[in-house]
Amino acid sequence: MNLILLGAPGAGKGTQATKISDRYGLVHISTGDIFRENIKKGTEIGLLAKSYTEKGELVPDEVTVAIVKDRLTWDDCKKGYLLDGFPRNLFQAEELDKFARIDGVVNINIDPALLMDRLCGRRVCRECGESYHVSTLNGATTCARCGGELYQRKDDNPETVGARLAVYNEQTAPLIDYYTKQGKILNFTGTEAPAEVLFEEVRAVLDKLAG
Ligand code: AP5
Ligand code: MG
Repeated sequence: MNLILLGAPGAGKGTQATKISDRYGLVHISTGDIFRENIKKGTEIGLLAKSYTEKGELVPDEVTVAIVKDRLTWDDCKKGYLLDGFPRNLFQAEELDKFARIDGVVNINIDPALLMDRLCGRRVCRECGESYHVSTLNGATTCARCGGELYQRKDDNPETVGARLAVYNEQTAPLIDYYTKQGKILNFTGTEAPAEVLFEEVRAVLDKLAG
């Protein structure tokens, strides 16, 4: 099963991605994580990506599409994959259609008023990528899943979050229509808290899709 996770910044894509990939044995491919990894290592891609991610803008399509196209040729993708944060505009979606076969698009709809607090309060595990919110951590600084150190993403500040939300509305939201026309969209309400409740709804639908 090959899936896409669609949703605004902070909708809960990463949070659901860990749960979905664990349950269905899918490879979790997050373009955001790939860029952050490259920035950390100081690679050429990282140096380029940094200037865009820091402003909340999209990294140029030719770079992003090439990374995903290559990643999908790796052997582990044969068991199925989950794309998190890709595609992010119509060009990327049309390119993806040329080299991938997508079975379903999990679209997480959410009240935009919730996103600023979710993102500015987010803490992420350096080791496994699990997301938390400060309000539920009770002062903990390590990951409940793997014990890794928690950190705050550089783009999780009010100014950059504002830019990311604008980019989502202009460039990514039209993909809901694109995949609805392809008959692939699976709609969910991301407001459901805790994230386990939303996952139960997603699981019920994906169990049927997985057959
Ligand atoms: P990326 O890393 O993809 O970030 P994003 O799309 O902005 O999404 P986030 O990761 O911020 O949010 P999320 O939906 O994963 O939410 P999460 O589960 O963590 O991209 C970063 C940057 O990289 C981009 O700005 C761009 O520059 C570049 N980039 C990436 N892909 C690109 C592409 N294809 N093309 C070009 N450039 C690209 O949850 C958020 C918070 O909410 C957490 O605190 C979590 O604990 C909490 N939460 C989650 N679910 C629930 C729930 N159900 N109830 C209560 N709280 C919840
Ligand atoms: Mg994410």
